[in-house]
Amino acid sequence: MSSAEGRVVLVTGGNRGIGRAIAGRFVEEGYRVAVTARSGEGPEGTLTVRADVTDGAAVDAAFAEVEQQLGPVEIVVANAGITKDTLLMRMSEDDFDSVVATNLGGSFRVVKRASKGMLKARFGRVILISSVVGLLGSAGQVNYASSKSALVGFARSLTRELGARGITTNVVAPGFIETDMTAELPEATQAEYRKSIPAGRYGSAAEVAAAVTWLASDDAGYISGAVIPVDGGLGMGH
Ligand SMILES: NC(=O)c1ccc[n+]([C@@H]2O[C@H](COP(=O)([O-])OP(=O)(O)OC[C@H]3O[C@@H](n4cnc5c(N)ncnc54)[C@H](OP(=O)(O)O)[C@@H]3O)[C@@H](O)[C@H]2O)c1
Repeated sequence: MSSAEGRVVLVTGGNRGIGRAIAGRFVEEGYRVAVTARSGEGPEGTLTVRADVTDGAAVDAAFAEVEQQLGPVEIVVANAGITKDTLLMRMSEDDFDSVVATNLGGSFRVVKRASKGMLKARFGRVILISSVVGLLGSAGQVNYASSKSALVGFARSLTRELGARGITTNVVAPGFIETDMTAELPEATQAEYRKSIPAGRYGSAAEVAAAVTWLASDDAGYISGAVIPVDGGLGMGH
């Protein structure tokens, strides 16, 4: 029996896209897995709890339910995220605030709540899903890129705060991955992006999930404050 077996994982936004693939991979590897969802359900074998990550009380209630049913959360994956793309001149305060409140504020709420149990257990894995555009920048994504690059400062500060307590905090920065989020882009834009990716293709949610489960494993116990790109070379290691 591997030491991963029985560990409790919570993935936010586990009902579709990358979060769903991450949750499914953890189930396959023998973890006990809960997902938060606003709608729908997580993959087979997961416990689904309702939560909007912009609502602190809902996040708290979701954790309480997971703790009651599975035990304290030992591995948290802050994956829930949104885009509201437009050029700065057209970006409303709401376009900016809602993206930051979900992507950055949501990660803050979820990780803060998870850290309580991790500190008690003197073990934890915090994994934040950022994006290659947080590091490279992207026209039309001032709100999104800001929220995603902020996760790097978040992870590095938390590594300094909690690193001595057996808790690692890392960032996974996917490039262009085939999900609903990228399907929304016009075909011409998608083709343009594809040309710029050294691997010559979009990635799959499964490829992101593989990096996340590895960071959660005992093998990655001495890795913290890192940004792991899963982007076919687009960000050249950043
Ligand atoms: N796809 C890509 O190419 C790509 C690249 C880099 C980074 N990422 C990042 O990877 C993560 C997942 O992206 P994806 O492509 O899988 O996106 P997606 O298919 O659009 O799924 C987004 C997920 O986030 C959830 N979510 C959004 N707002 C939420 C809120 N306020 N409270 C709770 N859950 C919320 C959604 O729940 P509902 O179903 O209820 O809306 C859904 O489960 C995001 O953080 C995204 O920024 C994606």
